[in-house]
Amino acid sequence: MAAYDKHYVKKEYFGKPYAELIAFFEQYSKRGTLVDLGAGQGRDAAPLAKMGYDVTAVDVSQVGLKLIKASSPYIKTVQADVYTFDVSEFDIILMDSMLHFYSRDKAKESKLVSDILDKMKTGAVLVNFLMKSAKSEKVLMNIIECALYEFDILENRYIDYPEGNCQYHFLAVKKR
Ligand SMILES: C[S@@+](CC[C@H](N)C(=O)[O-])C[C@H]1O[C@@H](n2cnc3c(N)ncnc32)[C@H](O)[C@@H]1O
Repeated sequence: MAAYDKHYVKKEYFGKPYAELIAFFEQYSKRGTLVDLGAGQGRDAAPLAKMGYDVTAVDVSQVGLKLIKASSPYIKTVQADVYTFDVSEFDIILMDSMLHFYSRDKAKESKLVSDILDKMKTGAVLVNFLMKSAKSEKVLMNIIECALYEFDILENRYIDYPEGNCQYHFLAVKKR
């Protein structure tokens, strides 16, 4: 049983998708293949599929994936560990509330991001939402600065997360 299974009996456990996420993907002219790493109940995956993105939802929670499939049959659902999932063929890689960079996870999560940056194809976009924390954001930005490849920053700002009564750091980078 995955850790989040018990939470996903509650509808919209994480609330609604951020308005800024929706606006970003609505204006992003190039639809394409999108992988939502740690897709949860699909609060992001479902509206993105409706917009015309070819969405693959990856999560360890079979409960979450079943909810996604039930609401959006066109989304491909994959029960897998994001640490071993191959992102190299996707146009867009989305990570929402997946990274925290707490001390115990910092090395593992840093390597995950580095690997994604290395493996994603030229022109692919990584979109990440991280709970506001100067320390964690510094770790993330440092990984991007030290990456083997160059990235253009498409978004780098704070957004409100009313359900959590907090702000999130919204980062989108495109591989040159
Ligand atoms: C905080 S929730 C965020 C869910 C979704 N991204 C959202 O914002 O609504 C994190 C999700 O990542 C999944 N997850 C955590 N570690 C994972 C891993 N190593 N591989 C795959 N999924 C994982 C959990 O099962 C959970 O559904």
